[in-house]
Amino acid sequence: MTEKKIRVGIIGCGVIAKNHQQAFQAHPHAEVVGVVDVDIRRAQDFAAQWDIPNAYSDVAELLASGIDAVAICTPHPTHEALVIQAAEAGVHVLCEKPLSTDFAATQRMITACENAGVLLSGMFQRRWWPAAQEIKAAVEHNPAIMGHVHLALHREHSYYTRDAWRGSWDADGGGVMMNQAVHYIDLLLWFMGDVVEVSGRLNSFKHADNIEVEDSAVATLTFASGAMATLNLTTSATPAFGATVHVTTRDGSSMTLLESPEGTEGRLINNGHGDHIDSTAAYPEGIVPNVDLRTINDQLIPFHTLQVANFVDALLGTQQLLVDGPEATKALRTLLAVYQSHRTGQPVLVGNTPAPTTVRVPEDIGI
Ligand SMILES: NC(=O)c1ccc[n+]([C@@H]2O[C@H](COP(=O)([O-])OP(=O)(O)OC[C@H]3O[C@@H](n4cnc5c(N)ncnc54)[C@H](O)[C@@H]3O)[C@@H](O)[C@H]2O)c1
Repeated sequence: MTEKKIRVGIIGCGVIAKNHQQAFQAHPHAEVVGVVDVDIRRAQDFAAQWDIPNAYSDVAELLASGIDAVAICTPHPTHEALVIQAAEAGVHVLCEKPLSTDFAATQRMITACENAGVLLSGMFQRRWWPAAQEIKAAVEHNPAIMGHVHLALHREHSYYTRDAWRGSWDADGGGVMMNQAVHYIDLLLWFMGDVVEVSGRLNSFKHADNIEVEDSAVATLTFASGAMATLNLTTSATPAFGATVHVTTRDGSSMTLLESPEGTEGRLINNGHGDHIDSTAAYPEGIVPNVDLRTINDQLIPFHTLQVANFVDALLGTQQLLVDGPEATKALRTLLAVYQSHRTGQPVLVGNTPAPTTVRVPEDIGI
């Protein structure tokens, strides 16, 4: 095993930066050597808290300090410029989700990293739940034909008002789909393949006074294989339930991932053999709590750690990178198609091939 240590910088010292710090520190061949934030006090406090030698307010200084890789933990609108700046400095990039809120921007980011010969990865740490990997292994041999994502999450109004960039189309790029559901749509697509057609509707039921984006969405997705799935998503639930991702496979078996409460490790509650394999009551008292955001993010650390390990190992040449740039844009493209469908009231085609179907509806069905 190599003795080389990957020298890492963290860009953005807000809420999620701690997950990256702990994840990189947990790897025997990585060390965080510098952090940067436009608010220098945040960078200095973070560096002091985690014993990191260097704190900057200028990204260029961090990039010139001899680092091999950066973790980008800043608001979405800043991702494109930062990824391209890092690539041009010859520094590998792990960027928080979503890579961008604009699909064309993600393509520019991917091209910049390819041209510079650096790795680009997008953070989708839920792929490292053992239960998610179990479903992935099962659908490799037994493809999924039907899928569903159900998200009933709770967000306070303060979640949207705390940071100026939250809740607007310009900065946040969307609501429940762009920020929360992107993780579960990513899992669904990882299990089911490429989407070719999307129809959807949006609304804001609880947060409309504070945000211009959606707090709720429904959609139907059709895949290149002919498989079909539905989305049912909201941050208006009180109390929260959490998330489920469900697939039924060609041989008729069904598998359900349950993340409840939000932030806890996704469990496989029934497997492809029809067994109900996890009957543990999530809430013995029958009450589902509204979990606060810091608790949610803390509980994600083990899975940030596993994805960061994959990123570091890919840099060391000992593992294949699981979520590369193109892979990290698939869920984004699908949810952007839901926005487009809501805007136009029409289905949106996102692939060149129409999905196969064996069903022909008679012309006169009498409505
Ligand atoms: N993977 C996950 O489960 C997960 C969870 C939470 C957040 N996120 C993502 O992480 C990103 C950051 O979210 P957050 O909640 O930590 O945000 P935050 O607002 O708490 O922190 C962002 C920090 O970045 C700094 N910053 C802004 N622009 C900068 C720039 N150009 N250069 C340097 N620093 C800059 C801000 O001053 C702030 O300290 C978002 O894209 C979000 O979607 C991912």
